[in-house]
Amino acid sequence: MEEEWVCIVPKVELHAHLNGSIRNSTLLELARELAQKGTIVFSDFEHVIRKNDRTLREVFKLFDLIHVVTTDHKTITRITKEVVEDFAAENVVYLELRTTPKRNDSIGMSKRSYMEAVIDGLRSTSSSNLDINFSSDDFEKFSKFKTEKKIIVRLLLSIDRRESTASAMETVNLALEMKGMGVIGIDLSGNPTVGEWETFLPALKFAREQGLSVTLHCGEVPTSVEIQSMLDFLPGRIGHACCFEDEEWRKLKSYKIPVDLCSYIYFNDMFVYLAVFISIFFCIQVEICLTSNIRPETISSIDVHHFANLYKENHPIVLCTDDSGVFSTSLSNEYALVSSTFGLGKLELFELARKAVDFIFAGNDVKKELMKVYESAARTL
Ligand code: IMP
Ligand code: ZN
Repeated sequence: MEEEWVCIVPKVELHAHLNGSIRNSTLLELARELAQKGTIVFSDFEHVIRKNDRTLREVFKLFDLIHVVTTDHKTITRITKEVVEDFAAENVVYLELRTTPKRNDSIGMSKRSYMEAVIDGLRSTSSSNLDINFSSDDFEKFSKFKTEKKIIVRLLLSIDRRESTASAMETVNLALEMKGMGVIGIDLSGNPTVGEWETFLPALKFAREQGLSVTLHCGEVPTSVEIQSMLDFLPGRIGHACCFEDEEWRKLKSYKIPVDLCSYIYFNDMFVYLAVFISIFFCIQVEICLTSNIRPETISSIDVHHFANLYKENHPIVLCTDDSGVFSTSLSNEYALVSSTFGLGKLELFELARKAVDFIFAGNDVKKELMKVYESAARTL
C-alpha cells in the first residue's frame, strides 16, 4: 500500500491521548530546558524517551515523566496546538482528543485552568491555518472551513484510574461546565492494574445521565470480572479489548445499545433531514490501537490481534493511534499496518475509515459534515 495514499484518505481519530501524542522533538526540547534549570536530569529522560520497546509498566512510568515536563499552562497550550496540527497534516478530518484534567497547586493549576490551556491551544491552532469547529456559538468563528486542511476537534475528559470517586466526579462536572466548548464525553484510562471499577462507576453513571458520551479502556489486562462489569455498563465505545476471554467476546458481540436519533439521508447530491426519530441499536464499538497493543506486548504478535476476527464479523471497529508520540506511530501508519498485515485493499481501507463517522460522539451536524468529506473523497481517490 502506497504510504502517500493512506495519508491522503480522510481519517477519523477517536482514541488519542494528548500527552501521549506529544512530538518526541518537543519532549526532548522541554526536558533539555528543565535540565538546564536543574529541575531534572536530562539523561534520565533521554534514555526513556528514545527507548522503543517498553513494558506496560514502563509506559506508565514514561507518562509520569512526560507530565513532569508538560504540566504547566503554556506547555499544555503548545502541545495541544502541535498535536492537532500533526493530525491535520495527515488528513485526520475529525479528532476526539482526550486528556486528563490535572491539578497542580504549586503553579496555580486547577482542572479547569488545565482545560482552558487545552482550549487555548485549539484556538491558536485555528489562527494558524486550521479550523477548529466547536459546537458553542461563542466559537462560531472557528467553525467556518477556510483552509485546505480542515479538522473538527472535540474533547473527551479522562479520569485516571488513580483518582478517587470525588475527583472523578469533579472531572465529570467540569466536562458538563465545558460542554459548550467542545467537550462531549468522558474516558476512563490510566494504569489498568491500579484502582477499582466501582470507584469510578458513580461518576460514569452520572456523566451518562447528564448526556455525556462514555468510552472506557477495557481489557488491557486479564481482569475478567472488571471487563464484564464494564461491558454491563454499556459504554458507547471501549478501547483495546486485548485480554478478552470467550465470555467477554460473547457479551461484547451480543450487547446492543438503544439510541434514538434523527437521521440524514443522502439524496440527489443533498443531505435530506429525516424529521422522525428512529430508535436503532448499536453494538459497543471497539477502538483498535494496533501499535500501542504490540509495542508493550499486551498482544504477543500482530497476526493474532483481535482486529482480524472483529473485522471479519463486521463488528464496529475504528483504527486509532492511542499515543502516537510514545509509540512513534501515526493514524496513516495504523491503516498501512492493517493493509500489510491483514491484506486489506484500498477500497476496504477507505470503507474502514468512512465507517468511523458512525462512531463519533459528536452530533448529527458534524456527521453530516464528515459524510460530505467522504462523498467528495470517494469521487477523487
Ligand atoms: P493525558 O491524559 O493527556 O495526560 O495523556 C496521558 C495519560 O493517558 C496517561 O497518563 C494515562 O493515564 C492515559 N493513557 C495513555 N495511554 C494509555 C493506555 O494505553 N492505557 C491506559 N491509559 C493510557
Ligand atoms: Zn488509550
